[in-house]
Amino acid sequence: MSKVAIIGAGYVGLTTAACLASLGHDVTGADIDADRVARLNRGEIPILEDGLPELVADGIAGRRLRFVVGAVTAVGNADFVFLCVPTPQADDGSADLGFVEAAVREIAPKLRPGTVVINKSTVPVGTTRIVKRILSDAGATDRIYVASNPEFLREGVAVSDFLHPNRVVIGCEDPEAAVRVSDLYRNVDAPILVTDAASAEMIKYASNAFLATKISFINAIAGLCEAVDADVREVALGMGYDTRIGFEFLHPGPGYGGSCFPKDTAALLHTARSSGFDFSLLQGVIDVNRRQHERMVEKIRNLAGGDLDGATIAVWGLTFKAKTDDLRDSPALYITDHLMAEGAKVRAYEPAEEAAARAATMQPGLEIVSDAYEAVAGASVLGVLTEWDEFRWVDFERVKAGMTAPNVVDTRNLLDPTALRRRGFTYVGVGR
Ligand SMILES: NC(=O)c1ccc[n+]([C@@H]2O[C@H](COP(=O)([O-])OP(=O)(O)OC[C@H]3O[C@@H](n4cnc5c(N)ncnc54)[C@H](O)[C@@H]3O)[C@@H](O)[C@H]2O)c1
Repeated sequence: MSKVAIIGAGYVGLTTAACLASLGHDVTGADIDADRVARLNRGEIPILEDGLPELVADGIAGRRLRFVVGAVTAVGNADFVFLCVPTPQADDGSADLGFVEAAVREIAPKLRPGTVVINKSTVPVGTTRIVKRILSDAGATDRIYVASNPEFLREGVAVSDFLHPNRVVIGCEDPEAAVRVSDLYRNVDAPILVTDAASAEMIKYASNAFLATKISFINAIAGLCEAVDADVREVALGMGYDTRIGFEFLHPGPGYGGSCFPKDTAALLHTARSSGFDFSLLQGVIDVNRRQHERMVEKIRNLAGGDLDGATIAVWGLTFKAKTDDLRDSPALYITDHLMAEGAKVRAYEPAEEAAARAATMQPGLEIVSDAYEAVAGASVLGVLTEWDEFRWVDFERVKAGMTAPNVVDTRNLLDPTALRRRGFTYVGVGR
């Protein structure tokens, strides 16, 4: 089994570390956040992710997993070094490679000959080459290999996605190093695709851009369904049976968000622009998405009587989707921000407690409460902003009794409109 160092212990790095340890590898996870490292070594998991606490505990108990502060401490004995650091969006839309470059500069002098440095962060085409150049400029031995191994996991089901992926993509110019990387996944039952580095990097962006396109497409169809009085859920079902289309990612909603799609579509568009390629399709996807966020605010404003100034609005859910505590680029936060900017008082219930606490610091005017009923007290409109399953099982008689008017905007099409209308609610969904 191999000695593996993972640089960055966030959603991707921590999942990669715990899963590779569970596959039998000897793994050291590194982060610059000393507090996070101390918590991890005590078995405390800083993110909400199904199955992760058990895997981390097993790895630590079996001495196959440990966490250290700083990349340098982790890489000395490593055969493989995974880079799992952030690649946030820069002002011009491109991917900011600052964290990747800093980590590579830091580890370069410590790497031993034969080590493979693997980029798991989502990085633009050409980054493998940049990493190679930084390594040699920073004094690494010339027997270091660099590979791209993009990650496709979904937050909320990250462990399962990592251990049962649809595919593993390895981009590397050196066939021997590519075989060594593929060997890390020996016990994972998935097709392994070995490509050149640029293609592997592009596969990640193309996949995310395609999924974002599906979402914007069905959101646009949902808007059209509202205009012609059709039900987008029936439409999506009828489309999905066509195996060339499929059912997944045809759920209309408030628009995509999260830590990946917004920044990755912007970065791909930036790559297209800098290559002189007119990718107006992708620009359209991004525009439709922003417009979809705005449409949700309009729906709430309409049910509040056309004016949000002084209105009390309840919202359920703040994370960018259910089963995660991630608030990055959450459509829900876009919506609450705009409601408050128009003078509404917004009271929110978010099931992921740590996310709720962080949201309160991100949006100081936002009132956070600890249950769904408290949120609706005195509200004239309820906005369901995240598809947490528990929202389905709320007592809507009690909700109605607490509100000044029984109005629901269901941005996730989560609830049953017939049952709510029977109870006297005015129900507005998306495209139905
Ligand atoms: N979150 C996802 O669902 C997902 C899925 C696929 C790919 N990705 C990509 O993976 C990368 C990481 O994303 P994430 O969501 O895990 O980010 P994250 O912010 O959750 O974690 C990154 C971690 O790296 C640490 N870090 C930064 N610089 C470091 C350094 N020099 N040494 C050690 N640690 C350092 C940070 O402290 C942080 O804990 C990004 O490129 C992202 O686009 C994310």
